[in-house]
Formats: sequence, C-alpha cells, structure tokens
Amino acid sequence: GLPERVRIHEVGPRDGLQNEASVVPTEVKAEFVHRLAGAGLDTVEATSFVHPRWVPQLADAEKLYPMLSGLPGVRLPVLVPNDRGLDRALALGAREVAVFASATESFARANLNRTVDASLAMFEPVAIRAVESGLRVRGYVSMCFGDPWEGAVPVGQVVEVCRRLVAMGCDELSLGDTIGVATPGHVGALLGALTEAGVPVSSIAVHFHDTYGQALSNTLAALQHGITTVDASAGGLGGCPYAKSATGNLATEDLVWMLDGLGIQTGVDLGRLIDTSVWMADQLGRPSPSRTVRALSHK
Ligand code: HMG
Ligand code: MG
Repeated sequence: GLPERVRIHEVGPRDGLQNEASVVPTEVKAEFVHRLAGAGLDTVEATSFVHPRWVPQLADAEKLYPMLSGLPGVRLPVLVPNDRGLDRALALGAREVAVFASATESFARANLNRTVDASLAMFEPVAIRAVESGLRVRGYVSMCFGDPWEGAVPVGQVVEVCRRLVAMGCDELSLGDTIGVATPGHVGALLGALTEAGVPVSSIAVHFHDTYGQALSNTLAALQHGITTVDASAGGLGGCPYAKSATGNLATEDLVWMLDGLGIQTGVDLGRLIDTSVWMADQLGRPSPSRTVRALSHK
C-alpha cells in the first residue's frame, strides 16, 4: 500500500541553485527559502559549506544562513563535506547536516577529489562529531543507479556505501539518482537489497533527478516499497556541476500534484509553491521546466 503522509525534503536552494550559471544574490536566496517555508515545506536544504572555489554559487553560505533564523519549526539542513565544513555550520548554529558520498570511484574523484574509501574516512569524524553535538546527520549516496563514466552501478556496491554511512551515525540515507537514469524496477531492486541488508526503510529517502523523465515513476515505485521521505526541488531546478548530463531534480510541484491526487498528505500548498517557482523563474530569467508549474501558472 501507499503511505498516508510523505515528508518532502526540499533541495531547491541547494541542489537547484548550486548549478545555476549565474550567481543568485543572497537576498533572493533568502526570500526563496522563506517563500518555500510559507508554502508549507518544513524541510528546506539551505546551502552547502563546501569549498567556495568548488561551488562558487553557494560561497555566500555565511551570509545566507543567518538570514533564515526567523523560520521556527522549519528544518534547514546544510551540506558539509569535511571538518572544515562542519566547523562553519556549527559556528552558525546549524542543527542538521548532510555528508555526501558516492557509490562510484569516478564520481568520488570528480566531486570530492578522493577515492570512495578516502571520502568515507573524511566523513566519519564529521558524522561522529555532528551526532555528539546533537545534530541530525543525513548521508547522501550519489550515482546509486548509473554513473556517466562507469555505466550501470551494481546494487551491492550501493548497499556497501549505505552500510558504512549508517555505521558512522547517519540517521537518514538519501539515494541519489544523480543523472536521472533509474527506472522503477531498478529502484525496487535497490530498496529490496537495502531492506535485506538490515537498513530500515523508514531511514531511507529517495533523490531523483528527472533527466530521462522517470523521476515521478521512480518515486511511485519507492512509495510502494514503503519510502515516506522524498527529495524534490521547487520548479525542477538543479543538477550537479561535477556530473555531466545531470539535469534538474524531480520538481516539487510535479510531486505534490501526484501526491495530492493519491490523497497523500504533504502539508504543502500547491498554489503558493507554484507562485514561488514562477517568481524564482523570473529571477533566473527562464521558465521552470516543471510541467505542473507550466500547466498551472498560465505562463
Ligand atoms: P580538496 O581540494 O581535496 O580540499 O577538496 P582539501 O581538503 O585538500 O583542502 C584544500 C583547501 O580547501 C584548504 O585550504 C582547506 O582549508 C580548504 P588551504 O589550507 O589550502 O588554504 N577547504 C575548505 N574551505 C572552506 N570550506 C570547506 C573546505 N574544505 C576544504 N568545507 C572538498 C575537497 C571536499 C573540499 C571539495 O572537493 C569540495 O568542496 N567538494 C564539494 C563538491 C560539491 O559541493 N558538489 C555538489 C554537492 S553533491 C550533489 O550535488 C549530489 C547530491 O545532490 C545527490 C545526488 O544528486 O546524487 C547531494
Ligand atoms: Mg542532487
């Protein structure tokens, strides 16, 4: 059966804006997060404390994060790759962080300048210290289904990285289809293997990019396997600067349209969300790729 309620983990301000050619002004980012919260999204991934040269689009994290302090009850996770990133996040009072591993060697090298093992060794002290500081720690795994350099990714390889993230203290995993190549059967196979490996389905989120138009089908397959946390990006913004052929995430509007139709609660007001994406599209100077935004915004 399907869940009664789904928690949407909104990644637009982070995954969406990290990939924009132009740098979005900090004030616009802050307003974006406030508008998303106003539309009922209670988890909004705000930014990344990564090396500013690696992701210049998010180099203003120190300026942005304090501008979000007036949002009680809204979870504002941030990405941290290493101790330096966690120091920066803790200094600003962040309560929730995410480390981001790769299932493949090629992407670990491209995105983190390290092997898979070395990147997990970099994350371990971060996760331990974050848990000791009372923070929630999410563990992303990228390239869970396919990799632009290595092709199809074996399920066992993904399960192994997931196990290691859980062992270091991650309370939630997010399975990333970074380049959008997954199909529903593959999603079911991975979730089945993770359950068999003892990873509880309640601790797993799915993170689909929509490159091949499969994100919503894959999401439905995940819900049928008991998943209740879904990552999405308002307006379908997104991609990864270190993975060629990565396009936008599953659009939050497309997700909410499907969940509303299924009678699954999200707490999100679709009209206010669409207004937000139309406003953001104006800021970015191009229309949203979301079909639902286009259908309902008369633009
Ligand atoms: P590196 O060059 O190996 O860094 O990069 P290093 O550890 O050798 O340090 C070099 C210098 O960088 C040092 O300065 C550090 O202090 C500094 P120096 O001593 O030479 O003056 N430094 C930092 N400065 C500020 N903040 C930091 C930081 N860390 C080091 N946190 C590193 C390694 C991990 C830092 C780099 O590769 C990096 O920043 N990568 C981030 C890439 C990224 O953000 N990618 C996008 C997010 S992942 C994604 O989008 C996928 C996802 O959506 C899921 C999916 O779709 O699959 C999550
Ligand atoms: Mg992503």
